[in-house]
Amino acid sequence: MHAIAQAAVDQTPPNCRVSAEQAAVIARHADILESLGPGIVDAFYETLYAHEPTAAVFKDGERPMREESLHNWWRRTVRGPIDDQYWSWMAMVGLIHVIRRVTNPMMLAMAQFVADYLDEHSDRLELDFDEEQRVVEAFRRVAAMTGSVITWGYDHAVSSSLFEVAGMPEALLARLRDEEVKSALVSARKEVTRN
Ligand code: HEM
Repeated sequence: MHAIAQAAVDQTPPNCRVSAEQAAVIARHADILESLGPGIVDAFYETLYAHEPTAAVFKDGERPMREESLHNWWRRTVRGPIDDQYWSWMAMVGLIHVIRRVTNPMMLAMAQFVADYLDEHSDRLELDFDEEQRVVEAFRRVAAMTGSVITWGYDHAVSSSLFEVAGMPEALLARLRDEEVKSALVSARKEVTRN
């Protein structure tokens, strides 16, 4: 998990990662941020349950447990530290979702949802405008990095499981994939040109 998270972080240009200053901004306001937890969790699950493909992921009676998981995530995120261990945990959380068939579009949309929620409710932080904007920006970065780590973990899980099943070295698998995508692109270009 550590290696997967590190690979995702390393591929992200440094000025797009969560900086030490941004982690400190979040830590500075951990108490008030934590108090937004119930509202975020509620809005998050209202959104998922209101949309058929995301609602279909859940089993009957699972909602209270899921809300508790997200609440824990929120608490851990605002309490910090947002460090290597945090990103390793996010890589693992990503894999937990793969098993439940939660897709990358669902994960990316909901990471963005959290950042948007904070932006829309930033007056509740009761901070001066500049500090409020620093918190909002810090969460945009957390959301973007969460998306990077989770999607990278997803790709890694798919390619390494194909490797296990097909017994093919990953480099060969990647070459075959590139060839397939190249020919798929030929028909994709024709289709897009027609539109
Ligand atoms: C930013 C996005 C998300 C975050 C941060 C997040 C966070 C979490 C966390 C921390 C857990 C508990 C993991 C553990 O057991 O240790 C969890 C579990 C779960 N989440 Fe999410 N989640 C996100 C998006 C979603 C979405 C979009 C769905 C469904 C459409 C979803 C469905 C689930 C399910 C079904 C589980 C239970 C997995 C299992 O143990 O079987 N989550 N989530």
